[in-house]
Amino acid sequence: MLKVVMIMASMFIPLAHLSALDQCSKCGKMEVPYPLSIADNCGDSNYRVYCNNGTLEFLSEEKSYYKILSIDAEASRLIISPPEIDKKKCYSSDLMVGGLKINESSPFNISNSNTVMLFNCSKDILLSPLNCSSNSLCRQYEEKVEGGRRCRNTLCCSYLKDASMTSHRIRVRVGGCTAYTSVVDLKAEDPPTSWNYGIELQWLPPN
Ligand SMILES: *[C@@H]1O[C@H](CO)[C@@H](O)[C@H](O)[C@H]1NC(C)=O
Ligand SMILES: *[C@@H]1O[C@H](CO)[C@@H](O)[C@H](O)[C@H]1NC(C)=O
Ligand SMILES: *[C@@H]1O[C@H](CO)[C@@H](O)[C@H](O)[C@H]1NC(C)=O
Ligand SMILES: *[C@@H]1O[C@H](CO)[C@@H](O)[C@H](O)[C@H]1NC(C)=O
Ligand SMILES: *[C@@H]1O[C@H](CO)[C@@H](O)[C@H](O)[C@H]1NC(C)=O
Repeated sequence: MLKVVMIMASMFIPLAHLSALDQCSKCGKMEVPYPLSIADNCGDSNYRVYCNNGTLEFLSEEKSYYKILSIDAEASRLIISPPEIDKKKCYSSDLMVGGLKINESSPFNISNSNTVMLFNCSKDILLSPLNCSSNSLCRQYEEKVEGGRRCRNTLCCSYLKDASMTSHRIRVRVGGCTAYTSVVDLKAEDPPTSWNYGIELQWLPPN
């Protein structure tokens, strides 16, 4: 009898772990799929995100919040909004904290699907693998998209964030590049106004 109970218990514990009880309730209109967590009593606390007045947000190591635009739990990926560029200067809103930084020991990192564009760069930035040529993709953004207007005619560079680069930060600084944006799965043949602006993060599934 005891043996039967133990077998049944071992069958039910993993099921219970995946039950709806572990998933957080919605934040505004957005589902918060497991393992993401917005409170101590749901999700997995290693995957903490923040529900601020109905908006789901990701918190960087430098304590900047980035709006979460979409989540694909099956693929363990989510897309956050690139920081806004100031209306008067070519400055990203997270410039003063050095851009986006994710703790190295966090389960989240920046995926390889992002094309990052840096604006108002100093000449020292002209290193490969950045494409800072006059027909670089960032030029199209500056010229065709309202958000990039303040950065027009500054030195800008683009690069595909791939496995050879740190996947935990996008760096900006005064005296380096002062603004950036990012596009997920960029298709160069599409017009810049229809690009999918965002920074895709992926997470290591919980063990
Ligand atoms: C919270 O969101 C509501 C609706 O979007 C808005 O009217 C309100 O001003 C917000 N409150 C704060 C403190 O941001
Ligand atoms: C570019 O950055 C420098 C500081 O590195 C700043 O003084 C300048 O105003 C910026 N340019 C624009 C167009 O915002
Ligand atoms: C990551 O966060 C932990 C805990 O907050 C901290 O102790 C550690 O120094 C951070 N790691 C880095 C590389 O900053
Ligand atoms: C830079 O990007 C443009 C536009 O995608 C491309 O035509 C050009 O060949 C690239 N230059 C380098 C050096 O990769
Ligand atoms: C980034 O995250 C993915 C999936 O979570 C993982 O496979 C990859 O090793 C991570 N890359 C780095 C450089 O940490």
